[in-house]
Order: sequence, then structure tokens, then C-alpha cells
Amino acid sequence: MAETAPLVATQASPTTPSKRITSIIKLLVESPGLTNIPSTHTFTLNSHDQVVSDTEEPVPVIDYSLLISSSPDQRSKIIHDLRKACQDWGFFMVINHGVPERLMRSMIDACREFFDLPEEEKQEYEGKHVLDPIRCGTSFNTSVEKVFCWRDFLKLFVHPVFHSPSKPAGFSENLLEYSKRVREVARELLKGISESLGLGTNYIDKAMNLEQGLQVSIANYYPPCTQPELAMGLASHSDHGLLTILIQNGVSGLQVQHKGKWVNMNGYPNSFLVNTGDHLEILSNGKYKSVEHRAVVNKKAARISLVMAHGPSLDSVVTPAPELLDREGNAPAYIEMKYGEYLELQQSSKLDGKSCLDQVRI
Ligand code: OGA
Ligand code: NI
Repeated sequence: MAETAPLVATQASPTTPSKRITSIIKLLVESPGLTNIPSTHTFTLNSHDQVVSDTEEPVPVIDYSLLISSSPDQRSKIIHDLRKACQDWGFFMVINHGVPERLMRSMIDACREFFDLPEEEKQEYEGKHVLDPIRCGTSFNTSVEKVFCWRDFLKLFVHPVFHSPSKPAGFSENLLEYSKRVREVARELLKGISESLGLGTNYIDKAMNLEQGLQVSIANYYPPCTQPELAMGLASHSDHGLLTILIQNGVSGLQVQHKGKWVNMNGYPNSFLVNTGDHLEILSNGKYKSVEHRAVVNKKAARISLVMAHGPSLDSVVTPAPELLDREGNAPAYIEMKYGEYLELQQSSKLDGKSCLDQVRI
């Protein structure tokens, strides 16, 4: 049993109705005298999952300025790089993306200020349903998990309709600008990826209706942990959408699966860390696999990451691209499903590698 205060418990007093605590990990870490983490947050990893290596192979780097350059030679080199990155890793860094450093910094600061808000103010944003457009909480989905992740989060649907908390001051303005800039980068990358699959430049954009595409902003707060080897910031999973773009506060913790091993991803300063999602795997009929990843925690420093997930429009019905199937003479390897339904399924389940995608595999 846990030796500390109740965790996913209710906080009741004679005068206030019972309320769920939204930033549980933050409160837990700030409570005095915590030396051992509670059993509710103790992960038992098999020995294979404990092994982590730093990369021996170089992590793919995509120079965004070349992708948008007018030189056909430069563009075709980058398309080639994107194809390799998606095939070999499902992960790459993006440099020279043009999103101002000051905007990235102020976004990370704004996320920190959000998590520092008094508990009562954050409670206003506690969502009731996994598809609520504003939702903060702890772990991933405490209603189905047996062990909880060392993470508090704030999830916001920022496109096609922009949602944001009104506090802290300036958060919403920064987020609106940041979401727009990052969405532009994601759409350009997806144009390159579309081309790299031998589909037209605009194929993914049109087929997935990216004009109305769902963009979700996820701010993650991972406080320091006295026993980081026993905890997990975010358990292994793949992302539901097409492409995810991550920045962080200079503290690393992201690990990706590569050739059967967990690899630490540090990223160049001010670069974007980008990974492929389940819907790119479905659309490409398994050519570009979604990458499994997780976040680990450390003893010393709180880590904040800000993730922008880009998917099809919620009402898009996604199937493997018929043009690819025809050209390659392959049968579809995934059933057709509405993106909104997949999203609900994924968000309602426990994080467990690629188990959600396995449900739509034929
Ligand atoms: C996510 C995610 C990793 C990280 O939010 O989907 O994978 O490093 N986050 O915070
Ligand atoms: Ni993820």
C-alpha cells in the first residue's frame, strides 16, 4: 500500500464538495518526507525494457529550410532524408524550422506557470471525458490504470477550434501563436512525407483533410523522483495521429524504440523532436511504422515537455492509401476507421505499446 497521502483520491471537507486532485504528482513530490515512491507508482519493467543505450547511429536530422527552399535538388535530398527517417526510425530532429526561440521559451515558461497555479484553479480544467477539449490530470487515464505514471498533464484541442485555459496570464496568446507556427511546420513535413511515399505532395493534406485537422497540445510535467528507476514518466506507447512535434525545457527524458532497444533522445538545442504516429502507419499501409516511445524521470530536475500532436480531421475515415495498395499490389493491412473513434479508443485505454493499433490491424 502507499505510505503517503491518498493519490487518486478525493479531497473532501465539511464545507467543500469532494474534488479530484488534478496535479497529483506535483503535490506528492512537494509533500514533506517522501523518500520512497508509493506502490501505486512503482513500475516493474522486464529486464529487456530496462536496457537503454545512447545512440550509436546518428539520429536523423531534417533541415526544414531545405524542405521549403525553391531548389529542386535540395528538396529531393530532404525528401530522401524524410523517407529514410520514417522508414528506419519513425523519429527525427528538425532544425532551422523558423519558429522563434523566444516563442518556444515563453511556451515552456507558460506551461510551468500553469502547473504552478493553485490546485483549485486547475480543477476548473479537469475534463470529464477523454474527448473534452480542455483536460488536465495525472498519469494517462487513471480510471483504467493499475499503476500510475509520474506525470501531470494539460491537454488542449487547439485546432480546428482553439481551446485554452484563461490562466495563467499570456498563456492563451502564446499558445495560439505557437500552435499556428508548429501546425505550419507539421503540414510542410507531411507534404514532404507524402511525396516520399510516392504520393502527390498534397495527397496526405487532402485525404486527411488537414485544413480541419485535429491538433492537440499536451503539456507534460514530470517532477524529480527519488527513485527514478522504479517510476515511469509516461509508459511506452505510440501516438494516435500522423506526426507529433515535441519541445522540452532542456531536461531530457524521451526514449524511443529503435531496432529493439530503448534509445535516449536529447535533441539539439531549439530543434523539434518529431515522431510518426499510428495514422501515418495506417495511411502508408505499414511502410512508415509509428514509433514506440516513453518518457523516463530523473532524481534532480523537473522536466516539462510540450507536445503538439497532428492528426486527420476528427471525421476523416482513414484507410491505407488505395494508390499505394494498387501500385504495390498489396492488400490493406488495417481496417478503416474514423479518426475520432480511434482517438477515443486510444485515450480510453491504458498505455501499452502499440496495443491500440493492433486492434485495427487485419
Ligand atoms: C506524449 C509523449 C513524451 C515526453 O505526450 O505523447 O510521448 O517526452 N511525451 O514528454
Ligand atoms: Ni507520445
